[in-house]
Amino acid sequence: MKPTRIIIDTDPGVDDALAFLFALSSSKISLEALTTTQGNVTVDKATRNALAILELAGAGHIPVARGNMLPLVQPLRASALVHGESGVGNANLPEPKNRPVGLHAVDFLIEKILAEPGQISIFPIGPLTNIAMAIRKEPRFASAVKELVIMGGAIREGGNMSPLAEFNIYVDPHAAHIVFHSGIPITLIPLDVTHQCILKQEHIDRLLKIKSPVSKFISDAMHDYMAFSLEIGQAGCVLHDPLTLAALLAPELLTLREYYVDVDISGGVSMGNTFADFSNVSKKPVNMKVAVDVRGDDFVELFLTHMETLGRSIQDRTK
Ligand code: RIB
Ligand code: CA
Repeated sequence: MKPTRIIIDTDPGVDDALAFLFALSSSKISLEALTTTQGNVTVDKATRNALAILELAGAGHIPVARGNMLPLVQPLRASALVHGESGVGNANLPEPKNRPVGLHAVDFLIEKILAEPGQISIFPIGPLTNIAMAIRKEPRFASAVKELVIMGGAIREGGNMSPLAEFNIYVDPHAAHIVFHSGIPITLIPLDVTHQCILKQEHIDRLLKIKSPVSKFISDAMHDYMAFSLEIGQAGCVLHDPLTLAALLAPELLTLREYYVDVDISGGVSMGNTFADFSNVSKKPVNMKVAVDVRGDDFVELFLTHMETLGRSIQDRTK
C-alpha cells in the first residue's frame, strides 16, 4: 500500500518534535515537508528546531518552509513556559546544516498542494495562521487539500491556555475560524483525547535503554515539559501532537463523531473556545470529524514501540 503523503505545519515545540519522529518511524507515512509557524516559540526558533530535528533523525532531505511570525489579529503569545527558551527543552541540537527553502510557508503550501490536488494531507499541530492565509490567498487551495488532521481545540474538555480555550486555537482564533469554515475535510484531535495519552518518566527510562541520539533527544527535550506537567498535577507529558498521526497509523484507537464545530472570535472571556453543536440545534451542516475518545494506553505503547524501532535504526546508522 502506498504511504500517505503529509505535510506537518508546526511550532516545534517538544511534542511537535515527537510527532515528526513518529511520522518518520513509519513506512505508512511519507513526510513531504515541514512548514513552520509561531506558537510555542517564535517562527525563527521553530524553523531552526524543525531543520535540526530532521537532521537528528537522518531526514535532512525533507524541506522546511518558514512561515508566519504573527497571528492574523491577536498579539504574539510565544512563551518559554512549557517548551523552554529553545523550544526543545534541554535538548542540545547542533546548529542545522540545512536552510529553509526560499518560499514563505504559505506560498510553499499553495505550490505543493496545487501541483497535486487531492494527494497531500496537512497535519497542523500549531496555530493555524499559515493554513488560513493559504486559504485566503489562493481560492483553489481549499478544494485541493486532501484533508486536515488538526491538533487543537477542546470540545467537552476545559482549555489549557484559558479556562475555555486550547493553546493552538487561542493563539490564532481568527485563523481557526477561517479553517473551520473552509470546507476542507477536517479531523480534529482536541484536548478531550490528547489528555488521555500521557508519556511518563518510566516510558522515557524505557527508551533510554536504547543508546541512540533519538532516545537522548527525547529525554533531554522532555525534561522541563515533564517537570511542568507533574507540577500541574498531570501524571506525565501529554502527547498532543503525536496523537494526530493515530488517524493514519492506528485509526481503530480513536472514536470519531461528526459535528458542526465553531470557534468563538467575539473577543470576550471565551475567545478561542471551540464548541460542537451536539444536538444540531443550529441546523448547520457538519464541518468536521472530532475525536471524542481514544485508547490512550494503547496509543502510548504504539508510540513507544515506534520510537524504539527508530532509535535502533539510527543507532545502527551511527555505529
Ligand atoms: O495545546 C497543545 C498544543 O499547543 C500542542 O500543539 C503543543 O505543541 C502546543 O503547540
Ligand atoms: Ca504544537
